[in-house]
Parts: sequence; structure tokens; C-alpha cells
Amino acid sequence: MNRFMLACLLLFYGESFCQSILSPDKRLALSLRMSTQGEPTYQLVFNKKTVVKPGLLGLELKDHQLLSGFSIIKVDSSLVDDSWNPVWGEVKTIRNHYHELSVTMLQKETARTLRLRFRLFNDGLGFRYEFPSQPKLNHFVVTNEKTEFNMVGDHKTFWIPGDYDTNEYSYYLTKLSETIPDKAKTFDEIAVKFPIANTVQTPLMMKSSEGLYINIHEAALINYPAMMLEVNRTTLGLTSHLVSDGVGNKAYLQTPFNTPWRTILVSDKAADILASKTILNLNEPSTIEDVSWIQPMKFVGVWWQMQLGTGTWSYADSSNLTLRNTDWQKLKPNGRHAATTENTKRYIDFAAAHGIQGVLVEGWNIGWEDWFGQWKEEVFDFITPYPDYDLKELQRYASSKGVKLIMHHETSGSVTNYERRMDEAFQFMKVNGYDAVKTGYVGRIIPRGEHHDSQWTINHFNRVAEKTAHFKIMLDAHEPVRPTGLHRTYPNWLASEAARGNEFNAFSSAGNPPEHETILPFTRLLGGPMDYTPGIFETRVSHYKPGSPNRVHTTLAKQLALYVTIFSPVQMAADLIENYEKHLDAFQFIQDVAVDWDDTKILEAEPGDYITEARKAKGKEEWFIGAITDENARTATASLNFLEAGKNYVATLYLDSDKAHWKDNPMEYQIQRFIVSNKTSLKLKLAPGGGAAVSIRLASSEEMKKIRKL
Ligand code: NOJ
Ligand code: CA
Repeated sequence: MNRFMLACLLLFYGESFCQSILSPDKRLALSLRMSTQGEPTYQLVFNKKTVVKPGLLGLELKDHQLLSGFSIIKVDSSLVDDSWNPVWGEVKTIRNHYHELSVTMLQKETARTLRLRFRLFNDGLGFRYEFPSQPKLNHFVVTNEKTEFNMVGDHKTFWIPGDYDTNEYSYYLTKLSETIPDKAKTFDEIAVKFPIANTVQTPLMMKSSEGLYINIHEAALINYPAMMLEVNRTTLGLTSHLVSDGVGNKAYLQTPFNTPWRTILVSDKAADILASKTILNLNEPSTIEDVSWIQPMKFVGVWWQMQLGTGTWSYADSSNLTLRNTDWQKLKPNGRHAATTENTKRYIDFAAAHGIQGVLVEGWNIGWEDWFGQWKEEVFDFITPYPDYDLKELQRYASSKGVKLIMHHETSGSVTNYERRMDEAFQFMKVNGYDAVKTGYVGRIIPRGEHHDSQWTINHFNRVAEKTAHFKIMLDAHEPVRPTGLHRTYPNWLASEAARGNEFNAFSSAGNPPEHETILPFTRLLGGPMDYTPGIFETRVSHYKPGSPNRVHTTLAKQLALYVTIFSPVQMAADLIENYEKHLDAFQFIQDVAVDWDDTKILEAEPGDYITEARKAKGKEEWFIGAITDENARTATASLNFLEAGKNYVATLYLDSDKAHWKDNPMEYQIQRFIVSNKTSLKLKLAPGGGAAVSIRLASSEEMKKIRKL
């Protein structure tokens, strides 16, 4: 036993065992107890405040339960303190500092062993079930996991409904006891839904009346279904609910096996939740040796016009086509197809002129005529361009301008089709000079009966990460399961969407409310980077479609701030280039902003209200600040004390104009420039639904003379 492991002071009546560990800073305490019936329970306390009151641990297997009748046969503990450098990320070096407790239990009746492993960090807990190799358990089926997270109060909760197929809901903010989907909100704009009553998705963000920020999620989701949480609105208990497959089972496993980690982040400061690296630390290191080909980047794309509906992915308006028997040359073009050779060249030219590395082109390949909502298996082949898309010529043109085209593989949810074709598709990419792919899974999953978040499909997503790594391809997955920190293991998996992206503002009138982007970093982003597709300058859809109520629910300046507040090593400048050309002064921020960072400072944050962050560009003495607010106007404060003492910098401020408002006056902004130092504190006025973006770099002596000091 080492000094972090304590026998609990008391054994309560009906207990046969109790063991506690403390976090390295001693603020968090975890205790594991065993009842006389052999049921393990755990409890988590932060600074003497209970975060999770005693909760049961265990699973149900097809042939037996692993919930009670346990006795403890081995207890180990250790302290780990090391650090590692991610290939890309929000900080250059990550400290991995925790105290571990592992408890091996024997269920006498079945002669089966189950191990519980806990890792207690300063900002949270990770724990998992481990099934060691053993004579009485080799192949087995999990029918239920019964992990309890018992809350002590009716916390303020940021939640979306539990759903086997999607995370593309906008967030509700209610008490935990009121997490009931509003019948009026049907979310018809989500293509595929499979909501499960009484459940919510993770990452689940809560705030207690005592001011504790608590977040429940999972790490390292491999060969297992995603976990949702069943809510007991009376006891305020949450219980794991695993996504089922087509026959109602949860996972097919073989010993030895470790489940994903269940994570509980907790702090009395919201900023600590955003800065937490616990989920990443709980994932396995990457085994990719040569990472030189993994390059964070920004990109533009032939894309937003399809979201608006002014351009199409499809070449023709026909439907009822088959891949094999269609003569694509003979189809009548609809005249709105966006992925033409000529249009793509415009995007390549723009990217080359503005130092943007990539151009995504969607709708370049055959099959889009009947891709949507058909549950069709042979939907795309991923290798045949439409007649008006000269792939070879575009590759030549892009490479002559130093720009990379980004491949697009929409699968329409037909995963079996993609599995059969992906080797050839990745080879096709390499032969044609592509080194990044955006995948998509809009549609009900095939094999029919599986879900986006069931074990089989999760294995597919992870297989794509492995296979793309094998081909040295970077990956950006849309509509996969929400991430769980696997980008540590697969650093080529740059980003996922897996939440309600900016695109919903284009095609749904509900869109994303102004608070949406202040919640995402506390929820979806805790698992990993999101391809949110920020940078929409023309926020009103009525600009293209007179009378349309649809709009981006932010100001233009807030769209800039999102490049800092929504971390991703791959960031799209998502608007049409004609809109950027009208506002090149504001586009300058997108051009300058980094996507990979040495350091990140969370300056102010409150979920649902505001976030102000500063980040230092990788390997450069440049800082970028993003400040965003919800529907309320606010003044953000950014003290620049992180700058090097004694040096002068030029700060360029991209601000909402005084009269800006996300609804009535979204596009008015102002740009100001000042000389600043580590003594400066910026006061940034944010409009309702607004934001501010700031770039900071060293000042030249010329600039010192010309620019006003703040
Ligand atoms: C949904 C994705 O999120 C979007 O970015 C893409 O354009 C469409 N699917 C079509 O693949
Ligand atoms: Ca999507």
C-alpha cells in the first residue's frame, strides 16, 4: 500500500471492504466499497463535497450477471506522473498524472474474475471493467452494463436526447429532473434519429448548486457500443445504457478485454473542464512512427451552396439510377451541379491566393441522384467522377498552385458498401495525390439493424482510422459516433463532426441558437476536435432565397472567434468565396489563425454563456484570442499577461460594431489595431450572439512608431 491509498476510516454496516485513493493534489477522493452481498460500489468526493454518491458497478452477460457475489482477491495501486507530446493539439506537452487503484474480484459461483481499474487525476476520474484471460470466460455477450452515476442534487444540466444514431440535436438546459424532450421540438431536420426514452447523451455537462462543474463521458471507445445515460428523475441517478445492435445485444467480446473508460470530470472552475486532458490521457498512445505526413490545415470547399440548396451534389435531377447500368454521360445535367471543373478551379485559385492549404469538393462522384433516404446499399463507388468534373486536370491544376484537394466519401450509411470498396478508394486517392478524406454517414446504417453508435459500426469507424493511417491519409469523419479521445491513438483522425454543425443554420429554420457554441466545448468537444465549419460571413439565407427565415445565429465577428474557441486541427473556411472577397479585411483573420497550438489559456468560461480563450500558435510567437457570448451582450476581458515581458506586440482586433446583433445586424464589424504588451488587458465588447477575434504578433520598430499603444 502506498501513501495515496487509504483504508477507509469506517466500514459501514453491511460492508466487507473499503479502499480509498486521493488524486495527486488530494482534492478528489475515490472510495470503493464492497457490500456483504459482494456488490462493489464507488463514490467520488471533491474537496469534501460529494460528486457521485455510492453507485453500483457491474454488467449483465447473456448467460449470467456480473453484479454481485464478488470477493476481492487482489488490490494494487500506483502513482503515475509522466508527460507526452501530441502530434498536434491545444498544448505542446500533456502531463499524465494520476493515482491508480485496481481491484480484482472473483465471483465464486461462476469462478469468473472481473477487475475494476480506477485512475484518479486532479480533474477527474476514469474507470473501466477488465476481463482477464480465464478458464471460465472466453467468448461472451454483454446484454447490459449497469454502471451508476448517482448525483447528489438536481443539477443544472446541458443535455441532448439519448439516440442510437445521432448527436445532431441542439442542447436543452434544464434541471436533471427535467431532462424530458420537448414534444414540440421534433428535430425533423435531423436525417436519421433513433431516440431512446429517458436517456441522454454523453458528454453530459452539469453544474451543481454548490458551483461544481461535473461532466460524464467515456474514453477509448473500442470494440464496444457507445454509452448513453438513463436518467432516474426521482433519485437523480444515472445508469449506463449501451447502444443495442439489431438483435438487442450490446457487445460480443472475448477475453482478455477492457471496456472503454467511464469518465467523470469535476472542478469548481469551468475552465478546468475545458482544459482537461484526462480523456486523452486515458487513450493509448499512437503506434504510428512516421507522423510527418499528418499536417493540420485550413480548407475551403465546394460545399456551402449545397447546404443552402442553391447548388446540388447531384449532376442530374433523375432518380432511380444504379451504379452499374447508368450511362452518366447521357444524363441530362441539372445545371446546378456545384462540383464542376470550372467552379473547383475558382476555389483552388482562392486557396492559393490566401495561403489556405486545402480545397474540399463534395459531389464530385457518381451516385448522388438517389443517395438520400433510400437505405440503398450500392450507392457510391468512390472512384468515378461525374462527366463535368475533370479529376486529373484538377489534380494537375491544384498541385501547380501548391493546393491539396480533399477527397469526399459520403457513404449514405451504407457501411457494407464502403467496407467493400474502401481499399480501392484509398488507393485511388493516393494515385491521384489526395492525402485527406472527409467521410460521411448520412442515412440508416447498412447492415440493416445496426446503428451509428453500435459496436459493429464503431468497429468500422476505428477500422477506417487504422486503414487511412496505413495509407497515410488524414481523416475527418462526419456523422460517426461522438469521439472519445481516440485521436491520441490515431493522430491521422484529425476531426469528426458528430454534433450539430454550422450547416444546420443553413438548412433548418431552428438552426443553432446563439448559445450553441458556448456549450459545445463543454460537451461534444471534450471527446475530440470538431469539424464545425465556421467562417460564414453572409449569415442570412434570405440573401440567396428571398423570404427564407434561416440564418446563422451569430454575428460575423463571432464566426471568426470560433476558429479559436472550437479546437480542430482541420478548420474549414466554410462560406462561398464571393462572400470572402467582399470582406477580405475580416478574412485576414482566417488566413492568419493557426490550427495547431503550443499553448492554450482558458481566460473566462461558463457553459451556455461565454468563453474567452487565448492560444499560442505552434512554434511561433503568435497568439490568437477568441471570445464568444450567447444571446446576451457582454464585455469579455482578456489580460495579456501570457505575453513575454518586455516585448511589444501588434494586436489586431476583429470586433462586433457597436450596433451589431446576431439577428438584426449580424454582419457589421470593425477592425482595430494597437500596440500591446503583457501589461495590457483587453476589454472586448461582444454584441448579442456576438464575438471577438484577436491576432497578436511581435511589432516591428516601424509599427511601434505608427500604431497607437493601448
Ligand atoms: C452531412 C455532412 O455533415 C455535410 O458536411 C455533408 O456535406 C453532407 N452530409 C453530404 O455528405
Ligand atoms: Ca452532419
